[in-house]
Order: sequence, then C-alpha cells, then structure tokens
Amino acid sequence: LFKTYKFMMKDELLESVAYLKNKGFDNPEIGIVLGTGLGKLVDSVEDPIEAHYNHIPFFPLATVEFHTGKLVYGTISGKKVVVMQGRFHLYEGYDFLDITYPIRVMHMLGISKLFISNAAGAVNLNFKKGDMMLIEDHINLQGGSPLAFKGVSEFGERFADMSEPYDLDMRNKLTTIAKDLNISLKSGVYASVVGPQLETRAEYRMIKLIGADAVGMSTVPEVIVANHLSLPIVAVSVLTDECDPDNLKPVDIAEIISIAEKTEPKMVKLFQELIKQL
Ligand code: HPA
Repeated sequence: LFKTYKFMMKDELLESVAYLKNKGFDNPEIGIVLGTGLGKLVDSVEDPIEAHYNHIPFFPLATVEFHTGKLVYGTISGKKVVVMQGRFHLYEGYDFLDITYPIRVMHMLGISKLFISNAAGAVNLNFKKGDMMLIEDHINLQGGSPLAFKGVSEFGERFADMSEPYDLDMRNKLTTIAKDLNISLKSGVYASVVGPQLETRAEYRMIKLIGADAVGMSTVPEVIVANHLSLPIVAVSVLTDECDPDNLKPVDIAEIISIAEKTEPKMVKLFQELIKQL
C-alpha cells in the first residue's frame, strides 16, 4: 500500500492542449482571465471558437454560479487571444492546482502575456466603487500556494521569484493608455482571501493595516503560477464596494456584480488598447 499525492500531471495538460488545438486554438499570443461580472470582453473577440470547460479533458468541472465557464479563442485588436470567461475559485471547493490549471493550459497553448481582471473591495478609502485599480503588487492571505505540490519543479523553479510579479512595462503602458483615454485608473496592492464570506470589520482593518488597497478572492494563485512560468502579467481590479470598517454596510452581492458590469466597458477599452500596443 502506498500513499498517493495529488500533483500536476503533464500528460493531462497535454491532453487538454491537444483537444483545444484540435478545435482550432492556434498559437494564441495573449491569455485573458475575466472576473466576476466582467465577461463581456468576449463580445469583442473576432472569429470566436468556444470550448466549454466541461468539454475540455482534465479541466476542472465548472459548477460556477456567476459565470458561463468557457474558453474563447479568436482575435482582438489584430492579436490572437484566448479568453477565460469565468474562473475557478477556492471558495467553490477547488484546490490550488485546479484553479491554476487553466493558466498552465494557456501557457502550453503558447501565450506569452497574461491579462487578469477581477472584482474587488476597496479598502483604501480614497478609492470608490466603480474605480479601477491596476495591481502593482499583492499579499497572499489564502493560506496556501499553487506551487506547494509534488511535481512542481518539472514546470519551473519551485522557489519562484516574486520580486516583480506584475510586469512593469505593461503596467506603464496601461497607465499611459488610461491617461490618453481619460479613464481613471488607480494603482495599488491586492490582498487575496479564500472567501466566500465577506470580511469582518476587524479583517478589513487588518487588511488595510498590512498594506493592501483592495481585497478579493482570486488572482493571486494565477499570478504565482504565471510567475513560475515566467509569463508577464498585467492585472486590473474593478472596485465594486467600499470596505470602510467604521461605516460598514451589509454586503449586497447583486450590487457588487452590477457595479462590475457597469464598469466593465472601461476595462474592455483599456485591455483592447493594450493588446493593440503589444
Ligand atoms: N471582499 C470584499 N469586497 C469585495 C470582494 C471581497 O473579496 N470582492 C468584491 N468585493
């Protein structure tokens, strides 16, 4: 009798990739992860080919409440992209390997840049709901790592460098684009929690105190894996609520989603323009 461990299987990744290539996912340059309430960028994908998560071999099974759950391949601003409409979260019962599996698949498909979006709460009270925040750095409060598994070294340096996890060149470009388009884009630190419960007032105080400007339930694991793969990342949070511990109102998930949806067109513009410039 032997102990078994879950670890990242290259064979499974190869099968996922083979299925997608067979569907026509041909050498995408840019991978894009769309967060809660932020799925509409797929409407600007030209000549789209779709693959539902549940049809891709070895992909985590989508049981997601808010998302459609599909990969869309096509062209944006003249570049070949692969878009994840809907991501996997720890709070849905997936583990760190599951939620980062699609990043490894997109990397194996050939992407050389990764764009990430999410909905997050503003703990920096100078930021308002409906603002967007370019993520310049992060704090992992999820109590684990997608690299803390057997077999990880096969894919890259286990002790991944995180001194500059968000690509400086793309951050600078996006900042300039936002200025040129007259779109307000804040910049700050994103803290990731597991959720799904929202934070207590004491937790918001702590999150602010340790140096975060926004808090959400995603992104950090994907960013860790992308760094492990030396994949340059740009990430934007859409701030959907103001997390003021001294004046905290009960959370309204429907409002969070509606603010994300309302802000989304600005995010789409920023991403489209950045894609054009790469
Ligand atoms: N915490 C608080 N507010 C939020 C979150 C979160 O994780 N996500 C979106 N708004």
